[in-house]
Amino acid sequence: MARYLVSGGAGYVGSHVVLTLLDAGHEVIVVDDLSTGHRGAVPTGATFIEASLAEPNRLAEIFAAWKFDAVFHLAALSLVGESMAQPFRYCRDNLANSSNLAEAAVRAGCLKFVLSSTAAVFGLPKSVPITEEAPTLPANPYGLSKLMMEQTLGWAESAHGLRSACLRYFNAAGADPARRAGEDQDPETHLIPRAIMATLGRVAPLQVFGTDYDTPDGTAVRDYVHVMDLAAAHVAVLPRLDRGSVRYNLGNGAGHSVREVMAAIERVSGRRVPHENAPRRAGDPPALVASSALIRAETGWRPRHAELDEIVRTAWEWHVAHPEGYGARRAA
Ligand SMILES: NC(=O)c1ccc[n+]([C@@H]2O[C@H](COP(=O)([O-])OP(=O)(O)OC[C@H]3O[C@@H](n4cnc5c(N)ncnc54)[C@H](O)[C@@H]3O)[C@@H](O)[C@H]2O)c1
Repeated sequence: MARYLVSGGAGYVGSHVVLTLLDAGHEVIVVDDLSTGHRGAVPTGATFIEASLAEPNRLAEIFAAWKFDAVFHLAALSLVGESMAQPFRYCRDNLANSSNLAEAAVRAGCLKFVLSSTAAVFGLPKSVPITEEAPTLPANPYGLSKLMMEQTLGWAESAHGLRSACLRYFNAAGADPARRAGEDQDPETHLIPRAIMATLGRVAPLQVFGTDYDTPDGTAVRDYVHVMDLAAAHVAVLPRLDRGSVRYNLGNGAGHSVREVMAAIERVSGRRVPHENAPRRAGDPPALVASSALIRAETGWRPRHAELDEIVRTAWEWHVAHPEGYGARRAA
């Protein structure tokens, strides 16, 4: 059994990472300031510490109290539009506060660090699928803040021996098939939960941004990777760190259009997805699909929930079972 620190473990992806680690018999300490996460999302069995990564002294106390085998760093701000309006805030949380955590780990002698990075480090790619060799040219402060943290970790390896795995997630989607966790963001900007909420009548009809892209059906194509597959990748990369730092693109390897996602929701739910067509949004690429060949080859990781219908079904079941998200549990 190992002991891990998970920052952002009260958030969407983080809560699934925590579940995966607990299911494997490990001890997990979650550090989260609940700025976008939920106390109710922290899985039973994990130790929860409400603290911000902006507090280096608090982090030093945490690392003094526990000896961790590795840090999984998921805490971040991650809304692209918000980052365009608040670049300093994004650099503060995703670079400065992230550096606080990595530095506290180094000082405590914990030299394995897994960073949640993003496809946004690539900006508008020239070709898909996107490999690790593609140029990193972020098109917004969110992607820039993550790229700068990746680069900082690279220098921390030469300076301090910190081994890091930067996992560039594409679109996290779905929910724990056992319905112990799911997605509850506010505002909800992700396509699958937003379309499900529209289908359940909880939000306005879905807006389909752009129907004239150069894609098979004219709508934008994205790579939806099941959140439990993302979580499994965090565990899969740890042994690889014994040989040095890595950066992996992490997706399902298959792109699905907005119309394909709506069709999957209609198959799974038996209901129509209310929607209306809208103009393209500035800066939205037509297609973002990962090549996950490198992480597959080097760690043996494979997506186990690759089918779009399964991704949608787990998300649908979670939303139906939790009409208020974590709200009811948060109030309890
Ligand atoms: N969801 C996706 O599709 C996606 C895609 C690419 C990358 N990512 C990355 O994955 C990670 C998790 O994303 P998510 O979708 O679960 O977001 P989320 O907002 O649900 O989770 C982020 C968590 O971090 C916490 N947090 C933020 N700043 C903090 C701070 N300074 N101190 C302590 N806690 C703090 C929040 O309270 C929240 O619980 C992020 O790093 C994000 O950039 C997510």
